[in-house]
Amino acid sequence: MKIAILGAGNVGIPLAKAFAAHGHAVKLANSRGPETLRELAASLGVTAAWTADAVRDVDVIITTVNLNSYAAIRPLLDGVPDDVPVIDTGNYHPYRDGHITAIDDGQIEAHWISEQLGRPVTKAWNAVLAQTLAEKGAPAGTPARIALPVAGDDPDARRLAAELTDITGFDPVDIGGLDNTWRAHPGTAAYCTELPREALLQAVERADRRHAPLRRDLCMQAFVSFGDALDRESTVRLHRAITLTPDPA
Ligand SMILES: NC(=O)c1ccc[n+]([C@@H]2O[C@H](COP(=O)([O-])OP(=O)(O)OC[C@H]3O[C@@H](n4cnc5c(N)ncnc54)[C@H](OP(=O)(O)O)[C@@H]3O)[C@@H](O)[C@H]2O)c1
Repeated sequence: MKIAILGAGNVGIPLAKAFAAHGHAVKLANSRGPETLRELAASLGVTAAWTADAVRDVDVIITTVNLNSYAAIRPLLDGVPDDVPVIDTGNYHPYRDGHITAIDDGQIEAHWISEQLGRPVTKAWNAVLAQTLAEKGAPAGTPARIALPVAGDDPDARRLAAELTDITGFDPVDIGGLDNTWRAHPGTAAYCTELPREALLQAVERADRRHAPLRRDLCMQAFVSFGDALDRESTVRLHRAITLTPDPA
């Protein structure tokens, strides 16, 4: 498969590495241009590209950027055929993105992102810590394999997102259309809690929309306050504690 990844940060890098390791042709782009990515791209076995070149002649585009970057990406998609799915990893964090009134007022993030890009997105990998993505992937069938939600309105794109999630080492769990994505937003029990399939399904089912923004901000405050002192396991425990998620172990 030919895959474009827009965003070469914490999430884009492990995705690129996993796809390349499975024999896919990956073009990786950031906002500053391929020269800034050459060495990294060579080490991952992918091609560094300008954003405009990355999105040309590919089977799927993955956007993995902060929320204030979508406006710059939108014009790149103008010439991209409608049947090329866009899979997105983005989450709204007011601490980082500033306040977005529409989302604060209740618009589902994925709908807001789709509007920004001018085409529907499918969601994947938004509910996993980047470090988990980089280090905790496991082959299908591994007991207690970490499961990740996949959502979107186009069933074919959702199937593709599930296939790619599996390639990166995680059990894909189809949670339905974009209207359901709030169930795995930051501040919910499905977000960065590293649950296996059944526990994730329960978390998605019991998601608490009202308290999610407050819990999202509490997690972020702790994350910022503790900095490097908070390793991956402590971060997962923190998310479980704040979202009242039972430890599945
Ligand atoms: N970090 C996590 O644990 C995690 C987990 C799940 C989901 N997410 C979500 O995934 C998204 C990405 O997170 P991240 O932590 O990977 O962010 P990050 O490390 O800050 O990386 C963002 C990347 O986006 C690139 N970028 C910015 N504007 C761009 C543009 N117009 N075109 C192409 N690339 C552009 C940046 O390139 P330059 O450096 O050149 O500007 C950078 O490579 C966020 O929405 C985040 O909330 C993050």
